[in-house]
Amino acid sequence: MNKKDEIGKAFDFGLFKRVFAHTRPYRVIFWVVAVAAILSAAFAVEIPNLVRRIINEALENKDSQTLLTLILMMLGVLFGQVITQLSFNYFANLLGESVIKDIRIRLFKKMISFKMAYFDKSSIGVLVTRAVADMQRIGEIFSQGFFMIVADVLKMLLAAAIMLYTSWKLALIVFAILPVILVATRLFQQAMKVAFIEVRTQVANLNSFVQERIAGMKIVQLFNREEIEKEKFRIINEKHQNAWLKTVWYNSIFFPVAEISYSIGIGLVVYFGVIQNIENVGLNDTGSIFAFFFLMDLLFRPLRQIADKFNTLQMGMVAANRVFKILDTDSHIEDTGKMEKEDVKGDIEFKDVRFGYMPDEEVLHGISFQVKAGETVAIVGATGAGKSTIINLLNRFYEINSGEILIDGYRIQDYTLKSLRSHIAIVLQDVFLFADSIANNISLRDDSVTIEEIEQAAKQIGVHEFISSLPEGYQYNVKERGSMLSSGQRQLIAFLRAYVSNPSILVLDEATSSVDTYSEQLIQQATDKVTEGRTSIIIAHRLATIKKADKIIVMDEGRIVEMGTHKELLAKGGYYNDLYEAQFLAEEVA
Ligand SMILES: Nc1ncnc2c1ncn2[C@@H]1O[C@H](COP(=O)(O)OP(=O)(O)OP(=O)(O)O)[C@@H](O)[C@H]1O
Ligand SMILES: [Mg+2]
Repeated sequence: MNKKDEIGKAFDFGLFKRVFAHTRPYRVIFWVVAVAAILSAAFAVEIPNLVRRIINEALENKDSQTLLTLILMMLGVLFGQVITQLSFNYFANLLGESVIKDIRIRLFKKMISFKMAYFDKSSIGVLVTRAVADMQRIGEIFSQGFFMIVADVLKMLLAAAIMLYTSWKLALIVFAILPVILVATRLFQQAMKVAFIEVRTQVANLNSFVQERIAGMKIVQLFNREEIEKEKFRIINEKHQNAWLKTVWYNSIFFPVAEISYSIGIGLVVYFGVIQNIENVGLNDTGSIFAFFFLMDLLFRPLRQIADKFNTLQMGMVAANRVFKILDTDSHIEDTGKMEKEDVKGDIEFKDVRFGYMPDEEVLHGISFQVKAGETVAIVGATGAGKSTIINLLNRFYEINSGEILIDGYRIQDYTLKSLRSHIAIVLQDVFLFADSIANNISLRDDSVTIEEIEQAAKQIGVHEFISSLPEGYQYNVKERGSMLSSGQRQLIAFLRAYVSNPSILVLDEATSSVDTYSEQLIQQATDKVTEGRTSIIIAHRLATIKKADKIIVMDEGRIVEMGTHKELLAKGGYYNDLYEAQFLAEEVA
């Protein structure tokens, strides 16, 4: 659905009901808000009544005793109004925040269950917006939209009723102005809605522009793109400014119109009710005249803001619609397997596996191979051959189209996802580190992994020295995506992370980027250590790794073209031999 459709729709009661269903756990708060709104309206209309009595009963008769009583009553009413207003505001916000807290947690739970294919298609920025900004909008339905409108309408109805009761003729004269304000309000509301959508689009543009430039600052500076980026930024800023000024412009028109209508109302009341007092409209005493002005204020004032509140409500509904759409998305890997094996030996078999990321584009065209428990198998091949894809399938990030993948003779679908993944540790091609300490990046905040264990493991694979040399050792915060470390260092951390989880099956997707000789040695040493005595699949670029492998699988364009040991394949003089000569010979000579 595009933006226009989302907004243009008439008020969607189904959606509204669904949003409000989330208040169910907070029924008490809901009723506190409702009662506060009613009381606040009641107090509001009591003020004109007291004004009338103060003038008629106390001032005209110069009765100081009555005046004192009435003023005390007035103070009581004002105090009551303060209390009810305060509770209304607080509890309406509390309700909104409680509801969005629940929805946000549900949304995150949902997102965390989605399969990789979902994230391939979705923009990070959009998902973040759903979880943060859109949530705020939903909260505003409660804190600024719906209840405010109900409270205002209640106040206006009460005021109108009392005006009719006081002098129905004069009330009708005043009501005659209402259509003008209502039409103006409606026009204003529609114009503001469009303007606000534009503002929010421009804010989103600003956000994503700044975010992307900061992330890609190296490219901007490397290629001298500062001037061009500045110019682009200026243009986006200008659009944002224009969009915002439009809302200011509408406000500047609407409020004077509302103000003038109100003043005309006052004028009419003064003319017909006071000067002419035509056919005895009923305002025969000074107190009633003043009270009438107060009531008019109660009737007109909310009208001026109701358009704004309605927009807030509408925006909240649009946000809710977007969030619910994610909540209604069913995109997870079927977890129907029942097997929970404690120990897995690590036999792996691929049987004629076919797979494509997109339905009509097959990437793997019938892959078959076996890895015996404890063996180390290297997969080599040109870029884009499908090497990383194989490991994406092994841990069920994606579902295969046909064929079978077996671990210890059982189909991977027969294991529970949790059990399956607990036996496989993977070092991905691009290492991801969280903005956290090294220790937490290794244990992933699993409390059962102690710092001693981590240090012990680091010593075993030979990276303890490197980690200890960092400013705060294991407590060193590597910052977002591990930006405080070099890429080789990040890989070492990822190795350690995999090693600590002590899996039966270890998969290494070696990064193609070259590292210095020292890191290279460290990585090799670590690789040897972590693959020791367990089934390992290594997507290899490093010579040493490949030579030592029990078996090498050579891939090209989604097929296995050769399989064998380093020696066998060289002797064969085929694809591997070519690859080896082209890629690795130079390295060996050097
Ligand atoms: N998430 C994805 N969605 C759609 N297509 C993808 C996705 N990931 C990879 N592909 C496609 O699948 C094919 C195989 O990619 P894969 O990542 O397995 O290659 P690779 O052998 O690991 O290459 P490299 O050595 O460069 O890492 C490529 O043609 C790629 O375009
Ligand atoms: Mg890859």
